[in-house]
This record gives sequence, structure tokens and C-alpha cells, in this order.
Amino acid sequence: MEFKTVTAALERIKTSCLVIGLYQGTQTDTVFTSLDTVTGGWLSKQIKRGDITGAKGQTLYLYDPPGLKAERLLLIGCGDAAAFGERGYIEANQTAARTLSGGGAKQAVNTLPALSVGQRDADWKTTQAVLAAEYALYTFDEFKTASASPKQALKRLDLWMPEAPAATTLARAVATAHGVAFARDLANRPGNVCHPTYLAKQAKALEKRFDSIELDVLDEAAMEKLGMGAFLAVSKGSAQPGKLIVMQYRGGEKNAKPIALVGKGVTFDTGGISIKPAAQMDEMKFDMGGAASVFGTLLACAEAKLELNIVGVIAAAENMPGGRASRPGDIVKTLSGQSVEILNTDAEGRLVLCDALTYVERFEPSAVVDMATLTGACIVALGHEVSAILGNHPPLIDALKHAGQETFDRIWELPLLDEYQDQLKSNFADMANIGGRAGGTITAACFLSRFTKKYNWAHLDIAGTAWVSGDKKGATGRPVPLLVEYLTRCAADPS
Ligand code: BES
Ligand code: MN
Ligand code: ZN
Repeated sequence: MEFKTVTAALERIKTSCLVIGLYQGTQTDTVFTSLDTVTGGWLSKQIKRGDITGAKGQTLYLYDPPGLKAERLLLIGCGDAAAFGERGYIEANQTAARTLSGGGAKQAVNTLPALSVGQRDADWKTTQAVLAAEYALYTFDEFKTASASPKQALKRLDLWMPEAPAATTLARAVATAHGVAFARDLANRPGNVCHPTYLAKQAKALEKRFDSIELDVLDEAAMEKLGMGAFLAVSKGSAQPGKLIVMQYRGGEKNAKPIALVGKGVTFDTGGISIKPAAQMDEMKFDMGGAASVFGTLLACAEAKLELNIVGVIAAAENMPGGRASRPGDIVKTLSGQSVEILNTDAEGRLVLCDALTYVERFEPSAVVDMATLTGACIVALGHEVSAILGNHPPLIDALKHAGQETFDRIWELPLLDEYQDQLKSNFADMANIGGRAGGTITAACFLSRFTKKYNWAHLDIAGTAWVSGDKKGATGRPVPLLVEYLTRCAADPS
């Protein structure tokens, strides 16, 4: 989709479709009232016919409005004006895009960004309009023989608002949307296609496309040499070799310390010998959602040419049972030197991550953020709306929280208290890889915290937010918006 921002007088805009928000009850919005005036009351007369009340989610096309150069109007129900906020705005934009994509208009002018959304400015409204439209228009049908989605006529969506946003806003929003779509594509691909070697190939393609990205891939032999015993304890059970994928984005000054993003890239999680039940096991193809978000974020940053340095590290492995798989009770030595007793082979994410987290020490990062679909307990605790955040550096956590709030890709902090560390005690090794049922997301983070003492670190558990189950099953691309926002702010203010 192509986007533009426009500010010209509405009655002079030639378009195949003008999209207008409609509140329930009295219309207070200036776009509506001025269009009603220009059309000589035609607009309100149409609405009085009763086909639309303005309730949330309603849509109605009207054709040939008098006095306007638009072929049609698309009304979007926005609900009660007083209750209209960020969520309503995003949903209205998604509804508009979805409705347009099923219609015949090739180009449309969306006036929803002119609605007032709390204190949100033109930059926020532009960004969210782009993200919402791209999110709604996304399809994934590369494995369907006959394309399930009809060819979409809509090619261009102009965003209309009285004042234009900052010059960089639109391009950044589009880059973020590309990053989200890339992450969704990767995570939606099945385990038989998207395995560690496939992810390494995707990284190679990024390196080729962007001069600013450089790639280094460590194979199992290289990891063996380094002593990444925890990572290998997971990958060795699979016929697909594990990879540590290291992408360096250099958009900042040569000597500026990078921010490291570390992603859990378990391309399929059967649980290993501690095998999972069959129901919904297919969803474990999304267990590389953290890795997908690193890919998406790097793509967005490279496209937007953000001026900072980023190291993206992906711990890519498949967790399978088999003759070479780790057994419960196995003890391995991590890259950090600490030993781990693997009491449950299904707690594999922390095993691949702990070695990747030790590995990134060599880049002397100013901050490290890891993303992982790490625990089912996170879904129990927080559901599907917010991701969990835990870490060792309150300013970093605050900055990420703020970025989440800005992008509506929200996160919630859980307590990383010392007391929980006791649950990881092992009779035979420095620690166990599980901490029991209580506080599962916290004890998983406690485990990681033992490998992140040398830098500022935050961990995002995205088990509940990286994908949607049910009839809309698929990847969401979260937390790419949050990460791009955070990095954009870091680039603007390197302190
Ligand atoms: N990938 C899963 C976590 C997960 C479960 C994400 C369900 C999304 C939906 C992870 O590797 C896992 O299996 N975790 C175990 C940990 C337990 C054995 C301590 C879990 O959550 O059950
Ligand atoms: Mn698991
Ligand atoms: Zn997993």
C-alpha cells in the first residue's frame, strides 16, 4: 500500500472514496459538520434514513455526494464521541482498511486522522493509521494454491488531517509496518520451511539488501568451540542444525556502543523428551516470534536509516525428541561457565537464550533487550493484551514501557525479586532450568538474569502477544512497533 499525507481543502479533493468517522448521536467532529455544510445537508439527510447509527464497527458507503469531488463516501462508526480514544481510533482505521480492501476504490482519502484522540498529535495519528491499515490488509496465503484473498483494488491510501505531521513520520511508520509484516510472515511460516537454516538465509538476504547490515552466522561446530553447551543441548536433538545468527546494523557513529536485541528463535518447540500434548502443538511454530521481531525491527531500522548501532542476535534451534535429544536430568555447561541441570527439556527457550545473552557481552552493548515466547505462565498472568517485561535496569524498563504506551504495543512489569531465585536451586548443578509452577514467567526471567549481570538488560515475554489463536490464528508482529519506537528515541537522544 502506498501512503501520503494531505491537508488540502476537503471539498476540492478528487478521490474515489472519502473515509469519514461517524460518532453515535450528535456529530461534533469538524470534518463531518463541514462536509454536511458543503453538501447542503445531504450527508445528515442520508444518515437520518437509519442505515447507520455510528455504533463501533458499522460501515456504510454513500455515492455521488453533491458538492464534493469524491465518487463515494465511506462512513465508519466510531461509537460514543466521549469514549473515543486510542483503541477506538486504531480499530476504526482497521475497519476502514478492511472495508476498502473488499470494495472497488483504487485510491481513498482517510479523514480519520482529523478526529481528536485524547492528546495525540498528527505524528501519532499518522503512524497508527499506517500501522492499523497495514495490519488489517495483511494476508498470508503463500501456501494456498488458489489465492484465498481476492485481488485488492485499493493501491493508495491518503491520510487527511488539518496539519501535516513531521517530515520523517510517514516514512518511519511505513518502515515499521514493513517490519511488522516481515515478522508476521516469518512467524507464520511452518516449521518444515522456517527452520534455523532458513532464518540464516533470511538474514543473508537482509545483509545483501542493506549496506548497513552485516551478518555472521555461527554453526554448531563454532558454538561447540566457544562452549555454548546450553544452546547445543537444545539443538542437538534435531536433524536441523542450530544457528546463532548475528546481524550488525551500523547506522550510528563508528564507535558508538550498540543496543543488542536478542531473539528466541525456536523454529518448532515439541517440548523435546518432556514432550508437549498434541492439542494446538502446531502453534509452536510461532516459538520463533522473538527472533521474528528482531528481524522485523532490523528491517524497519535499516529502511528508516535510524542513526544508531544495533546488534541483532537470534538463537535459532528446533526442539525435538529423539536419540540425540537431551534427557531430563542432563547437566550442561553454559558459555558463562555456570552449569545447568535440565529438569524439563520443554524449558528450552532459556537454554538457547542464556548462551546468546553471554555471547552479546563481546559487543559491550549499552543495553540488551531480549524477546521470547518464553512461558505459558505469561499467558496465565497477563493474557493476550500486554507483554511481560522484567529486567535489571529501571531506566531501560521505563523507556521500553513508554515506547509500548506510545505504540499501543503495551507491556507490563513483573517483579524480578531475589526471593524467586531460590526456586531455581539444583541438587546437582549451579541451577535448574525450571522453578516450579509458581511464578513461571518470573523464574524464567530469574534464570536469564544470571547471564545478564554485565550489562543493562530487559526481557520481554511475548508468549501471549506474538500470536493470536482461534479462527484468526496467526502472528501479530509484536513487539516490532514498540522496539522501533524505543530505538527511534535512542537514536534521537543517545544518552
Ligand atoms: N514456548 C514455550 C512457551 C509457550 C507456551 C509459549 C505456550 C506460548 C504458548 C516454552 O518453551 C515452554 O514450553 N515453556 C514451558 C516452561 C515450563 C516447562 C517450565 C511452559 O510454559 O510450560
Ligand atoms: Mn518449550
Ligand atoms: Zn519454547
